[in-house]
Amino acid sequence: MVKRLELPVGFRWGVSTASYQVEGAVAEDGRGRSIWDEFVVRPGAVKDGHTGAVACDHYHRYREDVALMRELGLDGYRFSVAWPRVVPGGSGAVNSAGLDFYERLVDELLAAGITPLPTLFHWDLPQELEEGGGWLARDTAYRFAEYTEAVVGRLGDRVPAWITLNEPFVHMVYGYALGIHAPGRAMMLDALPAAHHQLLGHGLAAEVLRGHGRQVLIANNLTPVRPSSQDPADVAAAEAYDALHNRLFLDPLLLGRYPDLGAFGVETEGFVREGDLAVISGSGLDGLGVNYYNPTLISAPVDEGLPFTDVPIEGVERTAFGWPVVPDGLRELLVGLRERYGAALPPVTITENGCSVADEVGPDGAVDDRFRIDYLAGHVEAVARAVAEGVDVRGYYTWSLMDNFEWAEGYHQRFGLVHVDFETQRRTPKASYAWYRELISAHRAC
Ligand code: FCB
Repeated sequence: MVKRLELPVGFRWGVSTASYQVEGAVAEDGRGRSIWDEFVVRPGAVKDGHTGAVACDHYHRYREDVALMRELGLDGYRFSVAWPRVVPGGSGAVNSAGLDFYERLVDELLAAGITPLPTLFHWDLPQELEEGGGWLARDTAYRFAEYTEAVVGRLGDRVPAWITLNEPFVHMVYGYALGIHAPGRAMMLDALPAAHHQLLGHGLAAEVLRGHGRQVLIANNLTPVRPSSQDPADVAAAEAYDALHNRLFLDPLLLGRYPDLGAFGVETEGFVREGDLAVISGSGLDGLGVNYYNPTLISAPVDEGLPFTDVPIEGVERTAFGWPVVPDGLRELLVGLRERYGAALPPVTITENGCSVADEVGPDGAVDDRFRIDYLAGHVEAVARAVAEGVDVRGYYTWSLMDNFEWAEGYHQRFGLVHVDFETQRRTPKASYAWYRELISAHRAC
């Protein structure tokens, strides 16, 4: 039996995926190369040399996947559009065959009564743009707006709300600062322009979306940051980390200014031009997408490098990925956002939340992922507590519909409600799938 929670009327339930993680078909119908196609073939970049060349073959099996979603009773499906399918060279010619795929998908969703919630950029940048500097180049922001026009021009009539970017923080840090994701640059703090240009791209794309009368969201990876003690050095380190992870990507959007990054010894003056912040904040947000996985515990730095140390959270369960399980961190995060931004905080949708489990199909053909059910139930309850404390949360999208290509981890981390056998492409709904269906239906039947 699932627990019925006090959630606002019209609360929306969904699942999330992303293009490179599920689609496959990387060389079909005129799709161009993306930075991920290049990155996955670098020796040692991805565990066991896995690639997204086939992934879940969603490009061909989307009907079967939408049928699984319909059966769940979802309100919404968050997926991403692959920029290199639509504008294969990153700028210039639009590939109509690429848009046809998303049109088929959108129409299939609508026929199933599911609202499409597309993300325009979930990390698969066209390789040609990378060769011009990727998001380190200001020009990429303008190319992003042109690509947005191509997509929204075709699908905007059927899709009310759009997410511009997925997790600009993670893309900057993993892709440009540390090099563990594509494009694999390891520039540390010199990666900062990649944050600003993504945000500028968001602002320019938001203007395009507004021009079409569409709603604008962005999905940020956010984490409540806790100091490891009340020692002023730990507290200052936690503030520095919070500025980098959370405020760098929210203050410009919601307050029209960058936070003080003095603790990092960096200035934004070099690449932030006059008028940029007005573009970034100007269009406003109809909703903030929050991707939450875990809180972060921070201590004072141990050496001369970064102004903080990330320390393990003890005494809690961990997912197969090793991520700490702290459901109340989601309540803490949401309440903290409301306290920090007040009326400037738009309605929130949880656009990702979930966990990896070493799931296997049992001899009886079932996948008993009790760990995931407990994880999801705990987090949905945390959302309800945040709502009770006055935060305007409109929906919850779990990551993910199905097991998929988990970036540098390849197929080793399974996040799905549906198990995927990557040899046969067989889909097997897990116990959590049945649980989620029941949860959704319990919240409908009132
Ligand atoms: C998020 C990503 C998503 C997925 C989950 C596990 O950071 O947005 O694509 O990989 O983590």
